[in-house]
Amino acid sequence: MENRDVKLIEKILSLKRQRKAVILAHNYQLGEVQDIADFVGDSLELSQNAAKTDAEVIVFCGVHFMAETASILCPDKIVLLPDMNAGCPMANMITAEELRKRKRELPGATVVCYINSTAEVKAESDVCCTSANAVKVIESLDAREILFVPDQYLGHYISTKTDKKMILWPGFCPTHVRIQPQYITGLRQQYPQAKVVVHPECRPEVIALADEVLSTGGICRYARSEEVSEMIVGTEIGIIHRLKKENPGKKFIPASEQAVCPNMKLINLEKILWSLEEMTHQVKVPKEVHLRAKTAVDKMLEAGRI
Ligand code: 13P
Ligand code: SF4
Repeated sequence: MENRDVKLIEKILSLKRQRKAVILAHNYQLGEVQDIADFVGDSLELSQNAAKTDAEVIVFCGVHFMAETASILCPDKIVLLPDMNAGCPMANMITAEELRKRKRELPGATVVCYINSTAEVKAESDVCCTSANAVKVIESLDAREILFVPDQYLGHYISTKTDKKMILWPGFCPTHVRIQPQYITGLRQQYPQAKVVVHPECRPEVIALADEVLSTGGICRYARSEEVSEMIVGTEIGIIHRLKKENPGKKFIPASEQAVCPNMKLINLEKILWSLEEMTHQVKVPKEVHLRAKTAVDKMLEAGRI
């Protein structure tokens, strides 16, 4: 480890204790961030962790909607996002106003929003879901027609697993669409023993070639199983750090080196330290949005328990 890192880490850990803070990091974060986090996980695991932490401050190393979800679940805690530019372009592909308009056109539909959405969009939705629980949440609903926003590809994947009528919003993840089916077929020839595991934000043509379709947390669990000795990984490449760290001796091959989410990479050790020193940037959901958004997130957590 470099001298720069040792000094920074010491300062972060000492300030973290002083502030009674917890550091949560998404599986796509830089390795240096994952390594100092108290908990690393997928969107669902991070929300569950935020919901139960007794820390006073949550330093959220992920993108804006994730920090916002933590604030929705813990309105009395201080939630810090070390870089305010760390947004999710997919979450910004739908506004609350656009959703209200679509709801007027589809009065009979139940609205399910992917957790990758703003608090305002969550507030307009009946229930929220993540890639880990999407099928379970939708199957739990007493509804025939679902308006699913904003990810058309996750929505399409769910439509292959349910009899409900799925109406999809045309959003997508700019990082996952970079993964092309020909990359998977090429790598399968090169690594015939490898399992192909992809995230449900991938295009349907990519999903059709996979052995498993899993959330990032699901990918980490599957990698630990005995079935896997080599894995072709169809998601953002930040996850490879955790996969290698938890599974020495196994081989992980990114489906595409281009599958990088630049927003996830904005957070680093310097910004975490600065965030704890200055107690910034604080993410807080306005009161008028908070209660309705929380209802959608709570319903998701409840459906996940059933
Ligand atoms: P997970 O919930 O599977 O971690 O996915 C979050 C995300 O942003 C994927 O691009
Ligand atoms: Fe958003 Fe895609 Fe980045 Fe996930 S990988 S945070 S969906 S842009």
